[in-house]
Amino acid sequence: MKRIETFQEYQTVYAESINHPNQFWAEIANSFVWKKKWDTVLSGTFEDANSRWFDGAELNITENMLDRHLAENGDQIALLWEPNDPTVASKSFTYKALHEEVCIVAEMLRTLGVKKGDRICIYMSMVPELVLSVLACARIGAIHSVIFAGFSAKSIADRINDAEADFVITMDGGLRGNKTIPLKSVVDEALLHTRKIKKSLVFNYLHLPIDKNERDTDWNALKNEVVASNHYFKPGETILSEDALFILYTSGSTGKPKGVVHSTAGYMVWTAYTFLNVFQYKKGEIYFCTADCGWITGHSYLIYGPLLNGATTLMFEGIPTFPNAGRFWDIIDKHKVSIFYTAPTAIRSLMSAGDEWLAGKDLTSLRVLGSVGEPINEEAWNWYNEKIGKEKCPIVDTFWQTETGGIMISSLAGVTPSKPVYATLPLPGVLPVILDDKGNEITENDLTGNLCFKQPWPSMIRTTYADHERCILNYFSTYKNYYFTGDGAFRDENGLFRLTGRVDDVLNVSGHRIGTAEVENAINHTPGVIESAVVGYPHDIKGQGIYAFVICDPNHHLQDQEQLYAITKMVSQQIGAIAKPDKIILVNGLPKTRSGKIMRRILRKIAEGEFDAIGDTTTLLDPSVVQEIIAKAKK
Ligand code: WTA
Repeated sequence: MKRIETFQEYQTVYAESINHPNQFWAEIANSFVWKKKWDTVLSGTFEDANSRWFDGAELNITENMLDRHLAENGDQIALLWEPNDPTVASKSFTYKALHEEVCIVAEMLRTLGVKKGDRICIYMSMVPELVLSVLACARIGAIHSVIFAGFSAKSIADRINDAEADFVITMDGGLRGNKTIPLKSVVDEALLHTRKIKKSLVFNYLHLPIDKNERDTDWNALKNEVVASNHYFKPGETILSEDALFILYTSGSTGKPKGVVHSTAGYMVWTAYTFLNVFQYKKGEIYFCTADCGWITGHSYLIYGPLLNGATTLMFEGIPTFPNAGRFWDIIDKHKVSIFYTAPTAIRSLMSAGDEWLAGKDLTSLRVLGSVGEPINEEAWNWYNEKIGKEKCPIVDTFWQTETGGIMISSLAGVTPSKPVYATLPLPGVLPVILDDKGNEITENDLTGNLCFKQPWPSMIRTTYADHERCILNYFSTYKNYYFTGDGAFRDENGLFRLTGRVDDVLNVSGHRIGTAEVENAINHTPGVIESAVVGYPHDIKGQGIYAFVICDPNHHLQDQEQLYAITKMVSQQIGAIAKPDKIILVNGLPKTRSGKIMRRILRKIAEGEFDAIGDTTTLLDPSVVQEIIAKAKK
């Protein structure tokens, strides 16, 4: 695969990709290893989410990530692992070693009875065995569904049931900062509420006491058996290009997370191509993506994209502030990281910790900086540029989504123009448009509208698991013949795109998507709660905070403080700690129209503290509730 190296080249390539997509993608796809080449590059219909890429082809994605690199790059480090505790030694796996480990784990899964097409939920913290599990699934054609290790038992149960998963891979516990997080016991609790799963593979990492169930198999014991058999170096299973590679759950505007399904060949081509071009990766460089593998960034740009390119990908077990706020900078210094990819929320939190944490850290190895997950504010952008990049490293502000599979709008580091807080230009093959509320394309510049994509791209969402209608409804129905992102955007006079945030009922808290309806559902489970409404408000570190307005039963006898505690605890139990409201106020009424619809616009203004900008309240059933809520919010 050839890297785009000049702006002029980008313009030529971009035009080519839009005018002749089939030719364009065929040429790129030719640089991969296929068991059988495709019959058609792009087929199917975009508007009902039935686009197909490289139909008729057969491949195994892990052969493109591992086997393909063995001859020339076998001794290069593929995966570099930095532990939570800086006094513990880091670990590394060469391409040869990673290939062997993945073959072993793949054989372990076969021994457990896992077959192509089976769904496997993976609930693990950031240890190499998580990557091995993901790749072992891909090796044998099992569909992985990684669940972020911060989600609650209830969330796991919902995902296992929705994905009809028969297998689980987990571990006794994980480390995050100074906390030990129990994982196996959370899975055990989840499994009390799911369909019967066949087997659970348990990696014993911390030697914590665990309840052993009949369904459990010990990772290490099984691994020893497989290794002793000495019969595990096997080729990857033959996978059809449109076979599902994974399911990843993400929040939308409804109460129930959606199982976003990605297929194999298109996802492979897109993550590899975008990784190479956006970061301008050069052979031998150390690349550090701070995302957790429980989110899409961890899938596409910690695991798949880098390994497809034969890169060295650094995986970090811990958190940015443990043992102190200099940890990322220590890691960059220690491993001589060239490319660093993180989220605005982490940048803001480290910025607020103070520049003293940068003292004595050698960051001269850095060449490219990246940002993902939410719009980056100017202050954070400037700090990142000055203090981390020393004004020498291009910053790529990469816009994309779980559903898009990979980066859609971003500059190519040092190649195409960059502009603070702008994601800038579309990747080749991406045709972004801005639509007004009526669905007309806005062609003037500097007007905000709804960001859509007009053409299929290889790694687009294929379906929402077991519910294709929902996929069509969510992404392809708001505007006919367009994929709707749910984000607002505008374009400057040079055609550069700036993202302005979600335009639907989805919050972005510390770069994580959380649906307001999901949080409301969770709050409403608390005994004594009658109704609730949740909105976002600007938060210095998290980007958005969660603000909940809750009506309780007047005959319920909990003291206010206890009620607030109960609500918070319920949200943790129903979803996970990431969804805990930052502010909760107990109110007697919510601003509703005569037809019973909650006017969130008003609640948003209150949450933002803009009490004088509430606007018209005359259409409310009872306008006096607004004053009551304001009085409580001011307290
Ligand atoms: C937001 C994360 C502005 C956006 C890869 C999107 C961004 C949602 C950016 C997807 C960015 C992501 N600038 N907003 N560079 N990157 N977003 O599915 O609202 O976890 O719709 O994927 O994050 O979040 P998701």
